[in-house]
Amino acid sequence: MAAPVMAADLRVFADPRALAAAAAREVAQLLTTAVREHGSASIALAGGRTPRDLYRCLAIDHHDVAWDRVLFYWGDERHVPHDDDRSNYRMAREALLDHVPVPPEHVHPMPTALGEPSEAAAQYERTLRSRFDTKWPRFDLVLLGIGDDGHTASLFAGSPALEEATRWVVAATAPVAPHGRLTLTLPALAHATMIFVVVAGDSKADALRSALGDRADPRCPASLIRTAPAPIVWWADARAAAHLTARISR
Ligand code: 6PG
Repeated sequence: MAAPVMAADLRVFADPRALAAAAAREVAQLLTTAVREHGSASIALAGGRTPRDLYRCLAIDHHDVAWDRVLFYWGDERHVPHDDDRSNYRMAREALLDHVPVPPEHVHPMPTALGEPSEAAAQYERTLRSRFDTKWPRFDLVLLGIGDDGHTASLFAGSPALEEATRWVVAATAPVAPHGRLTLTLPALAHATMIFVVVAGDSKADALRSALGDRADPRCPASLIRTAPAPIVWWADARAAAHLTARISR
């Protein structure tokens, strides 16, 4: 059942480099504000390729962030070893975490070394519940991407995970390899202080148009994010936003 959604805060940039630099500035500002206001900041990272440039910008241009007060989590993960080149943890470590002074105990990768994805998901939920004593985790920032097919995190169209209304983390199956995934559920993503969705490239134009349509539709899981109580900023390059009308930001 599609649900009506609010107008989107869409920011469009001429190219992926401008997009990454602008989004990194806002991420740095948001982390700094969270540390100032409550002594630490918690962020759930996105995986895939798109956020890599954003993470690199944070590492290179934002030494002013109190990185020793930032707690890192992941919104989803492929069920592969942490040294696998498909690992979202490995990508974030190489692009950001190896270059900023984050205490190791502040980095919480999903435990993919555990045998069964379902056990890894349960373990990660325990990790999150040890940090957040609220009904849903309250990250200061959740970063998300969108797949060409409209998935977000590892929430794919037709997946039972889209219906999950109690658990914070579940195992999921992706239609593309690696098929084994771990993902935060929609409600676990939706109660953050802020959600940034970062999208770039021609191949995302249809998915972004669907995600920003006037109704949330389970056939495009990214559109379901718009029913979240959290404010959302959609960061796109001109190619991904090709089917949308919005002024190009510098
Ligand atoms: C993953 C991601 C996933 C990603 C999209 C877009 O594990 O793959 O978390 O949700 O954000 O698939 O991926 P790209 O940025 O590589 O296009």
